[in-house]
Amino acid sequence: MAGKFISFEGPDGAGKTSVLQQIEHDLEAELGANQVLYTREPGGNPISEQIRQLLFNPANTEMDGRTEALLFAAARRQHIVSEIVPALKADKVILCDRYVDSSIAYQGAGRQLGEEAVWQMNQFAIDGLLPQLTIYLDIESALGLRRIAEHRADQVNRLDKEQLSFHRTVRQAYLRLYHQYPERIKLIDASQPLAKVIADVRQTIHARYPDLFAEESKR
Ligand SMILES: Nc1ncnc2c1ncn2[C@@H]1O[C@H](COP(=O)(O)OP(=O)(O)OP(=O)(O)O)[C@@H](O)[C@H]1O
Ligand SMILES: [Mg+2]
Repeated sequence: MAGKFISFEGPDGAGKTSVLQQIEHDLEAELGANQVLYTREPGGNPISEQIRQLLFNPANTEMDGRTEALLFAAARRQHIVSEIVPALKADKVILCDRYVDSSIAYQGAGRQLGEEAVWQMNQFAIDGLLPQLTIYLDIESALGLRRIAEHRADQVNRLDKEQLSFHRTVRQAYLRLYHQYPERIKLIDASQPLAKVIADVRQTIHARYPDLFAEESKR
């Protein structure tokens, strides 16, 4: 499979979706719209979007942690089969808003199911498919939560309502993953102004795939 698989990770409010909008726009201008796939987890296809509704419904306060982790993995599996593998075969650049690292950080660490247990459970879902590059947007937890509160107060979902300590635990797990997989995961300081974060992301993608954003590097 010839495509490029890039995932974007980081705590809530880090700026993944904001950064991805610009990166998607720029890559589509560079490569053509049909060579770029922006997609998000959980979701990206009708079956996974239905699982997403279950996961983020504020009424589902009774949801067990393992149920949550299994649903994320199920949505991921369908997303891989329906979206990612076909795009890889079609030689596209795949920009994926969250992937398996989110499960390790949120369910493994945040929900205390165990990072290793959630990793093992997800192997069945991903069947060996990891991104070639993971952009980790690192942000201090209070700042991430403040951004969400300031800009998206109307959109706060069930998982956003967790305690600050939960978000700190999630960030620590991300940092452990970053140290564990230095070849795959690249850290970017997401507390910087959005334009600088985007510039750093472009540079990181260019370093991994020198043919992408090649014009910019000559400037
Ligand atoms: N670098 C930045 N500086 C200031 N504000 C930012 C920055 N990046 C994003 N924001 C703002 O913070 C809010 C959260 O950003 P965004 O939705 O992109 O985060 P996210 O990582 O996708 O969060 P989630 O995990 O909850 O989807 C948005 O209102 C966005 O405008
Ligand atoms: Mg987002």
